[in-house]
Amino acid sequence: MAKKKAHLLGFVQHGVNSHATGMWRHARDKINWDWSRPPYWQHLARTMERGLFDAMFIADELAPYNNYQGSSDATVKYAVQCPVHEPSTIVPIITTATTHLGVGVTLSTAFEHPYSMVRRLSSLDHLSGGRIAWNIVSSYSKSEWDAYGVEMTQRAGRYERMEEYMELCYKLWDSWEPDAIVADRGSGVFADPDKVHEVNHEGEFFRCRGRSFVYRSPQGRPVLWQAGSSDRGRDFAARHAEAIFAVHPNVERMREYTDDLNHRLESRFNRKANSVKRIYGVQTVVAPTRSEAQEKYRQIQECIPLEGALAWISGHFGPDFSKYAPDDIIQNIEIPGIQGLFDSIIYARGGAPVTVREAALIYAEGMGMPRLVGTPADIVDQLEHFMDAGGADGFMLAATYTPGCFEEFVDLVVPELQRRGRYRSGYAHASLRENLLED
Ligand SMILES: Cc1cc2nc3c(=O)[nH]c(=O)nc-3n(C[C@H](O)[C@H](O)[C@H](O)COP(=O)(O)O)c2cc1C
Repeated sequence: MAKKKAHLLGFVQHGVNSHATGMWRHARDKINWDWSRPPYWQHLARTMERGLFDAMFIADELAPYNNYQGSSDATVKYAVQCPVHEPSTIVPIITTATTHLGVGVTLSTAFEHPYSMVRRLSSLDHLSGGRIAWNIVSSYSKSEWDAYGVEMTQRAGRYERMEEYMELCYKLWDSWEPDAIVADRGSGVFADPDKVHEVNHEGEFFRCRGRSFVYRSPQGRPVLWQAGSSDRGRDFAARHAEAIFAVHPNVERMREYTDDLNHRLESRFNRKANSVKRIYGVQTVVAPTRSEAQEKYRQIQECIPLEGALAWISGHFGPDFSKYAPDDIIQNIEIPGIQGLFDSIIYARGGAPVTVREAALIYAEGMGMPRLVGTPADIVDQLEHFMDAGGADGFMLAATYTPGCFEEFVDLVVPELQRRGRYRSGYAHASLRENLLED
């Protein structure tokens, strides 16, 4: 059987710092680039397209984390995913700078009605010629709820509401039939009203009456993307997602996740095993020699402030980690935040106990993803192992310093993947869905 080829995505945020805390102070970060201006995004997009990535993937949160010491001081002070600008605003900049690169955009369902969500996503799908994915999230962080002045709901309730959210989105996406537009100048008929269906939704959480305002977009709807990882989150993903982003610290955990997802797809949702792309997070530090790569890695680690790291784990997981001693062992508890990422620090040492300090510092390097440090061949050895033994279909590459880390990956690692026949040599299709879902 032919060996699977990898899919690649670049994982970033529309902010000064993405998923490696303190990178803004790294000597190689954003030299002569202003992340709040279009040229930076155009360059990043063109770099990823040069590397034949499926997409740039933009994570998002709606407000600065505020649970470390009961405040957002440390978040602001150490640029812990802060400031972060609105993610959909940069999407057209990225897609006009490129012709094939897709964009995965994270947009929360918590405070936006499905009607405007569908309108925005379908407009972006039109503008990009069918290159949009939506990372569906429901706002796990207390700070987001505080900012919007709404009492935070429990995980189960958030997923129930999201189910109905999706039901209404599907109705709106299907509102315009593919051949609804006639555009007959002679008769003056632009669209056939019989083929533009009115949505009539009366649910527990939402009401909506009316037709979608946007005609059917090139992909019909964005590629649906999910990263929920609690039990409930995995079911949601298995029901709706076309691609999944998950973080597991080692190949054994990847394999478990792969098998669990396939089991859910087949046994609960009547979908084929392996029909959803599993994209696992990794962070790479590459150099022509191992010693250079190790030196680079050391410089990256030096940028991380412990307090910023503690603020980040408090933000992502929920508990205020200032209340624990740095040498306390992290307990495997149910947390209100991102359960799946919490697992990645619980197992960060292969099952051995992990202290609060270790957890914070490991997490702050790259959100608990495996860190692959070495030559291009070392890195590709690992990626192949994650595909062959872990069931990965591709990788979400967490940024360190930008845009340099992506330039280095494209120049050094992509050719090695191609040499081994584990990566595409060109884009085969026009839409993100077709490129991403191909084997
Ligand atoms: C790898 C990964 C990346 C995520 N990225 C985001 C994000 O950018 N924004 C967000 O609001 N939630 C993000 N999440 C959170 C989830 O999608 C989900 O809403 C949250 O984990 C709560 O669901 P769960 O308890 O089922 O995991 C991410 C989760 C994972 C595992």
